[in-house]
Amino acid sequence: MKKTALITGANSGLGYEFVKRFAQDGYHLVLVARSGQKLEEIKKTYKDIQVTVIQKDLSKPGAAKEVFDEVEKQAITVDVLVNNAGFGLLGKFDELDIQKQLDMIQLNIAALTELTYYFLQNMKKRNTGRILNVASTAAFQPGPMMSIYYATKSYVLSFSEALVEELSGTGISVTTLCPGATKTNFGTVAAVENTRMFSRAMDSEEVAKIGYNAMMKGKRVVITGGMNKAGALGAKFLPRSLAAKIAKYVAGEK
Ligand SMILES: NC(=O)c1ccc[n+]([C@@H]2O[C@H](COP(=O)([O-])OP(=O)(O)OC[C@H]3O[C@@H](n4cnc5c(N)ncnc54)[C@H](OP(=O)(O)O)[C@@H]3O)[C@@H](O)[C@H]2O)c1
Repeated sequence: MKKTALITGANSGLGYEFVKRFAQDGYHLVLVARSGQKLEEIKKTYKDIQVTVIQKDLSKPGAAKEVFDEVEKQAITVDVLVNNAGFGLLGKFDELDIQKQLDMIQLNIAALTELTYYFLQNMKKRNTGRILNVASTAAFQPGPMMSIYYATKSYVLSFSEALVEELSGTGISVTTLCPGATKTNFGTVAAVENTRMFSRAMDSEEVAKIGYNAMMKGKRVVITGGMNKAGALGAKFLPRSLAAKIAKYVAGEK
């Protein structure tokens, strides 16, 4: 029997690359994002698998539960949950719009947490399932000029690694994908395309492939690319104050 993967942020960048990978492997799909039209267009390209579109703004409180309820209503069993939707913003904390930053916390943290919570209940009943949470190399140090974004990704990493331990001995795996700069729409949305952070960006197809393979192997954490791995390792051993200074430098214009 074919399995089903639910992917948030499925109509662009990494999410869309995940869609293609799962479809290639014969998974049915549940696609979630705000732009339903783009999701419908993606749906049209697949004939051999069932594709369910859920148009939802996950930055609205309660939206994640509504996604779960819709999936339940349609009697879909989600075997793989990919919490991918997320965004960042460049700028000083006190100068950025507070509502946008709260929306970021709601999407990057709360929606990811709620979706994990609800779908995990069902995975536990079946004692099988995979969860892929998309964090970032931002998870490894404080990020001046993107303070909330970095903090949200630290949360994703910490939360996901804790779950790995709670779920040890079960048939459920939780993998955290930590990409560095990647060519998607993220750079434009976050306004970081002209920063040093984006001097070198990886290909989205390659990044998604690394995340997908790691998830399938049930790996705990995967950092994409040699430079990003080195950076994350460096951040582990440097004083936090110095790591924060480097992150601030990287957020500066090229
Ligand atoms: N690209 C990078 O450099 C990079 C690096 C590290 C980590 N990441 C992480 O990778 C993940 C995917 O981002 P991406 O790089 O692929 O960026 P992207 O191309 O901008 O894709 C973001 C996706 O999230 C969806 N989304 C945004 N806000 C949403 C909301 N409120 N409710 C539901 N869906 C929403 C978007 O669709 P709609 O706009 O239609 O809603 C889109 O499908 C994010 O978690 C990001 O933080 C990216």
